[in-house]
Amino acid sequence: GKPLRLGIAGLGTVGASVVRIVQSNLSSLTLRAGRPVTITAVSARDRKRDRGINVDGFAWYDDPVAMVADPNVDVVIELIGGASGAAEAVVRAALAAGKPVITANKALLARHGVELARLAEAAGLSIGFEAAVAGGIPVIKTLKESLAGNTVTGIVGILNGTCNYILTRMEKEQLSFETCLAEAQRLGYAEADPTFDVGGFDTAHKLAILTSLAFGTEIDADAIYVEGITSISLEDIKAADELGYRIKLLGVARRTDSGIEARVNPAMVPKKSVVAQTSGVLNAVAFDGDALGEVVLVGPGAGGSATASSVIADIVDAARGHRTPVFGLPVNELMLYQKAEI
Ligand code: HSE
Repeated sequence: GKPLRLGIAGLGTVGASVVRIVQSNLSSLTLRAGRPVTITAVSARDRKRDRGINVDGFAWYDDPVAMVADPNVDVVIELIGGASGAAEAVVRAALAAGKPVITANKALLARHGVELARLAEAAGLSIGFEAAVAGGIPVIKTLKESLAGNTVTGIVGILNGTCNYILTRMEKEQLSFETCLAEAQRLGYAEADPTFDVGGFDTAHKLAILTSLAFGTEIDADAIYVEGITSISLEDIKAADELGYRIKLLGVARRTDSGIEARVNPAMVPKKSVVAQTSGVLNAVAFDGDALGEVVLVGPGAGGSATASSVIADIVDAARGHRTPVFGLPVNELMLYQKAEI
């Protein structure tokens, strides 16, 4: 069939991994996608920077919006990050140009997701964002597709790999918060501004997206109570340990009679639970569905190759022409987010 030609905006940890995986899996990707998949254009700031990949064969753009207009780009993959600025401009330009979008950008979706979904659906385009929540764990497909027969009543998750990595290493090796954060940054887990991680905002962005998918409401990230892990000390971790608990940064959302209760905060979790045993960069996401009961997914929640793995899944969907509504329900059927009185 006709090749699917990708343009990748942003060649950071995730972007470089996407290039690597596409190039090293071309034949199986062609079979899964039903047609050849090829990267034709990329956009990033510094062409000479060593990313461990060969970028010679790609059209190079310093301006990502100019890349979107390249007639040899069929699908735009936005891996720049940030709730506004270049990332937002790229996604809007792609939808305006009639090109499907794939993004790992939870901040952008938490802020502009409903509006972007409206633009995409009006134009008959898809926005794939499997990589935006919980890195490599297939949570978006799970909610949109596998759990379609359920009324979801609750979500509990460890949704930030950086925080979980920090808390795990503080506990196991008695290291300071700052040392562990620096290590998480070095490993490519943390956001460009790690305040988003340790302040709990990244978890809130992801929880807002999951809440919308699970409960069929518009996203309202501002309605989520957010507390991060910056004030957690080694003493707190030790005290929890002696009582049989671990401290985890949780995102929790529940459907209640009066609306939706959603919050992000560090919590004491009994050590024998799956969530407590989720260590390092792993994330865990538990959904409660009326038909299914509880399902818990655990796996790598950050890092280049795990996150790229989810981007590749969206590439295959795009190649096959899948066009499910962005948030599961047609965007015009989403209900207004009603914050529960608690
Ligand atoms: N900074 C994020 C995390 C990356 O640590 O989970 C994955 O979204």
